[in-house]
Amino acid sequence: MSMHSAAMAAACPLDANDTIADRAFAGDVLAGLSEPQQKMLSPKYFYDAAGSALFEQITVLPEYYPTRTELGILKARGKDITAIIPDGAALIEFGAGATTKVRLLLERGRLGRRLGAYVPVDISGEFLNGQARDLKRDYPTLDIRPVVADFTTPFALPAEVAAMPKVGFFPGSTLGNFEPHEAGAFLRSARTLLGAGALLIIGIDLEKDEQLLQAAYNDAAGVTARFNLNLLVRINRELGGNFDLSGFAHRAVYNRERHRIEMHLISRKAQTVRLLGHSVAFRSGETIHTENSYKYSIGRFSALACDAGWSTLQTWTDPEAMFSVHALRAEAG
Ligand code: AVI
Repeated sequence: MSMHSAAMAAACPLDANDTIADRAFAGDVLAGLSEPQQKMLSPKYFYDAAGSALFEQITVLPEYYPTRTELGILKARGKDITAIIPDGAALIEFGAGATTKVRLLLERGRLGRRLGAYVPVDISGEFLNGQARDLKRDYPTLDIRPVVADFTTPFALPAEVAAMPKVGFFPGSTLGNFEPHEAGAFLRSARTLLGAGALLIIGIDLEKDEQLLQAAYNDAAGVTARFNLNLLVRINRELGGNFDLSGFAHRAVYNRERHRIEMHLISRKAQTVRLLGHSVAFRSGETIHTENSYKYSIGRFSALACDAGWSTLQTWTDPEAMFSVHALRAEAG
């Protein structure tokens, strides 16, 4: 949180039961809505319970190709992918969430029985521990060591895996929601965390026909619109805002120069919204920028990884080259 946002949040105290996370949310929202050029909100705030459920619905929409295409690659190439994972390795999954994808790997090449440990890392402890319990039922001999942490900030691995070869797993093209400098910083810190010689298996969405991209983020059923608007629902509920949802519309556009889908909430009219003792004025047509989803070429992603100390061992794509899974190795030094 910047000094600016901290100062604004402090001017409007929340009640005594509110947590540091609530205060960070309040500070970030006030700062983002006070940006003079372009109002913005961070996509990390999409994922409250309702937002997470909406995202699950997005992943099975006919227009939203990334999830099913990545699952297809993991199924079709799972044997090749798991073949590069050494016996006794610790598999560290960043932002583990549901275990659907790692299960595909565990089922292949007897990986579930060859691993030294599986370390799912997620910010939601309750969800993570529930997933770990379910996985343990299906893989009773697998040593599962969940870590509750925000993987975008430094955290420590369990001491028990210190001597094991390390393999990071970061599916879902979540890296695409990071700004390029944040993506580089994440790859560098993952390299430091996992150490020289470690591997990283990472899913990256690829550049493609603009119409396919636009459709994936403007689905006909309007689920992505509800996902985007849920940010305002969350602000109303958690920060006492009075956003009128019918006064805002969802829009996703492809920004070709910057290789990214941009999601916005557009104000349908001139209006003023109140939250936490502040007034936020909107012009008709003014937008809140809520998310970027960067799309890479294989070359641009390899260059980004290389700058962060990773060399590309192998890249797998689906037959239409919609999505890619990369195996990277952490270089020494
Ligand atoms: C989580 N992330 C990779 C999704 C994406 O495609 O950028 C989030 C999302 N936003 C709208 N639809 C899906």
